Amino acid sequence: MYRSHTCGELRLADKGKVISLAGWVQTVRKFGSITFVDLRDRYGITQLVFNESLNAQLDEQPLGREFVIQADGTVLERSNKNPNIPTGDIEIEVTAFTILNKSAVPPFTIQDDTDGGDDLRMKYRYLDLRRNAVKRNLELRYAVNRAARNYLHENNFMDIETPFLIKSTPEGARDFVVPSRMNPGQFYALPQSPQTFKQLLMVSGYDRYYQVVKCFRDEDLRADRQPEFTQIDCEMSFVRQEDILNMFEGMIKHIFKAVKGIEYTEAVQRMSWEEAMWMYGNDKPDIRFGMQLLNIKSAFTLNGEITAKGELLQGADFAVFNEAETVLAIAVPGIAEYTRKQVDELTEWVKRPQIGMKGLVYIRYNADGSVKSSVDKFYSEEQLRAIAEAAGAGKGDMVLILAGAEERTRKAISELRLEMGERLGMRKKDEFKLLWVLDFPLFEYAEDENRWVARHHPFTSPKPDHIPVMIGNNPVIEDAKHYLKHPYAQIKANAYDMVLNGNEIGGGSIRIFQRELQEKMFDALGMSKEEAQHKFGFLLGAFEYGAPPHGGIAFGFDRLCAILGGSESIRDFIAFPKNNSGRDVMLDAPSTIDQKQLDELKLEIRD
Ligand code: AMO
Repeated sequence: MYRSHTCGELRLADKGKVISLAGWVQTVRKFGSITFVDLRDRYGITQLVFNESLNAQLDEQPLGREFVIQADGTVLERSNKNPNIPTGDIEIEVTAFTILNKSAVPPFTIQDDTDGGDDLRMKYRYLDLRRNAVKRNLELRYAVNRAARNYLHENNFMDIETPFLIKSTPEGARDFVVPSRMNPGQFYALPQSPQTFKQLLMVSGYDRYYQVVKCFRDEDLRADRQPEFTQIDCEMSFVRQEDILNMFEGMIKHIFKAVKGIEYTEAVQRMSWEEAMWMYGNDKPDIRFGMQLLNIKSAFTLNGEITAKGELLQGADFAVFNEAETVLAIAVPGIAEYTRKQVDELTEWVKRPQIGMKGLVYIRYNADGSVKSSVDKFYSEEQLRAIAEAAGAGKGDMVLILAGAEERTRKAISELRLEMGERLGMRKKDEFKLLWVLDFPLFEYAEDENRWVARHHPFTSPKPDHIPVMIGNNPVIEDAKHYLKHPYAQIKANAYDMVLNGNEIGGGSIRIFQRELQEKMFDALGMSKEEAQHKFGFLLGAFEYGAPPHGGIAFGFDRLCAILGGSESIRDFIAFPKNNSGRDVMLDAPSTIDQKQLDELKLEIRD
């Protein structure tokens, strides 16, 4: 053994012990004839003291940053203690040392506040991974993994691996494909998720399945998306939606307790998709703070209710509001005193192309009760106060209003709400709020393709009451503009998402398990019988041999870890991530392949 202890282990109680350590040289400091070295390994840092007797050897074999050394010595009490590290009470008086390997000067400092930029750190990820900050993230990831597995094991779930080389059935994202040498001209696809396999396992009787599994999706990347990412993928038989919600609420609470020491005792709040869209403009609302939306004028109904509050705007000659499809407001607490400049800056913020609004209207509800607005000319003080109060504003608050086309405005106000929540410190990293969003629409309309697409995936069951609507109606739409009037737009799914602090951390559904309904679903998605048979014949076939009712969910493991670790970027929680262009800059992948490989695969590259 190179070492008797780790660099994070020794304490005052070990005083006098003769030990050996091995690790990386973090720093070398020379004071006269004495040299101090901080030695680092995965477990921590221990101070080594090299005194005069070793000077000759040190002169001959000088130590540099990131050298790998082994040192023997005795544990001493430090005269100058360092309360910031667990080993800070002791140091090692070195009696002998060996350089196990030298290191080139690293391209950035291996410290919490490193001087290395993102790209550099990714290129030398193996060095970046030595940094404490990154190591802590991977430790957290492993803790979440363990906690999830323990919970699932205790609950009789069985980890079963499913293949990575499967058949391309693009639905949702694009597939990554792999050419087959033995079957020239044919391709495998990498799974976007093990969805159909876990359903087949249910047909096979493995009634509780799970897998911590890689999924591959060729889609545009963002901070919370990687082309290959990991899911905690689960499926259960003989369950209804309620059973799944309870089981996985239990899993997340278990993870909170095991990893963060948080007792999340209250029931996870539940909200329908429509409520979420209505109150927050978003299907994954951050409910750590209020600032719910007020629909001042609306042309559409929700859950069959007339919710338009147009009367608040009546009688005024303000074309922007009168002509807008939607006018939405939020009451932002405590910012009535924002300066002109601050309001202008917010206006510029909503005008940025990512938000895409033409302007921002405000109503200040001053501390003295007076009301001041950018649309004073058009509305009486009473009207403005009524709007402000309807939005939930009190004295000292300011109401921010956006007007325009329904979808864009809803999206914009939702972004503005999050931005104001962020600016006002209402999105605290150490506060965790879970939410179930339920009753998603079964379908979405893809205007460019002029057909219905599955909002979750094509194996999701409609709510039992809505099955007749699906079966009894022709999916074809005469007038694409009015797709919202088609009965299919009203069909709700037995689907659910789990949201944590405004991030979708998991999603799943109760599945269709009868062949006829599954065929109807493919038909609704515009798939011919032949195409459905070609793509999903195996599943339709399996449904003929006694498929049990089943349902499941998959959690975005990387996302869950990132949020628990207080970050929005999942890259920090993946050992070897890709950059935003989907590149691994360390490997320099993707890359071209040899002509010989291309020939074997019978592939030709065209410009
Ligand atoms: P879904 O597509 O909703 O469901 O994925 C489940 C969860 O995986 C995470 N996720 C991602 N994380 C990182 N990078 C990505 N590109 C990415 N895409 C998704 C999200 C999401 O909630 N088979 C179904 C699950 C089921 O029905 O059981 C599925 O894959 O956190």
